[in-house]
Amino acid sequence: MPWTERQRAMLGEMGIVVWAPTRVASGVAAAATAVDSTAASKTAARVGTETARSAPAAADRPLARRDDTRYAREGEVAALDWQALREHVAACRACRLCEGRTQTVFGVGNERAHCMIVGEAPGENEDRQGEPFVGAAGELLDRMLQSIGLTRTDAPPAQQVYIANTLKCRPPRNRNPEPDELALCSVYLRRQIELVQPRLLIAMGRFAVQSLLDSSDPIGRLRGRVHRFAERPVVVTYHPAYLLRNPADKARAWADLCLAAEQLHR
Ligand code: URA
Repeated sequence: MPWTERQRAMLGEMGIVVWAPTRVASGVAAAATAVDSTAASKTAARVGTETARSAPAAADRPLARRDDTRYAREGEVAALDWQALREHVAACRACRLCEGRTQTVFGVGNERAHCMIVGEAPGENEDRQGEPFVGAAGELLDRMLQSIGLTRTDAPPAQQVYIANTLKCRPPRNRNPEPDELALCSVYLRRQIELVQPRLLIAMGRFAVQSLLDSSDPIGRLRGRVHRFAERPVVVTYHPAYLLRNPADKARAWADLCLAAEQLHR
């Protein structure tokens, strides 16, 4: 089936160019006007069959492995409202990352959003501006959201997402998060999720996945089906920064977004 105008526009938002049939004198012939269609159409064809297969046994798993000594802190954070949580995070000195940060990066968006995006950690720009996903990866994220009718800017909860990172402080030189950093920071993400109460979580990248699903499986093995975190559906996809380095996987990310949109509109 050929792409509709609307689908082509959505794919265009993500930087995916599709083959378009060109009308010639003898009728409609498939002409190669661009590249990259095969993977996109194969993936899109699979979307219908991949939907709504809930992954077994992922429900109610902890955000990350935690030990008993942290329960008191978790209890305290679990009782905070938005303002108190924001202040708590801004003053956090629970791990070494507080030493190098300019500021904490709490999260942005609609506090009642139907869809919550979970990223990894602030980078240099985010550390400077105090907002998640403001660099090149953020621009791609905005286009990805737009492709399924979502936005980070002011809109009702059905359209405006809430964006939060797994870590609230920038790791030095953008190194990977350490397990203890993920574990200590996970209480904040958990509380944000409880406060937003999203209908759907989209986990972007392996550290978001590690925190939410307690899984170290690669994204390629986890994507394409619906997981659960505290009974909420979770769709796993590639991190926008990864997609900038590996554009061939944008077609798969597009299929993941279709799966997310389908979950949201159920
Ligand atoms: N990558 C993330 O996961 N989060 C940000 O805020 C920026 C880049």
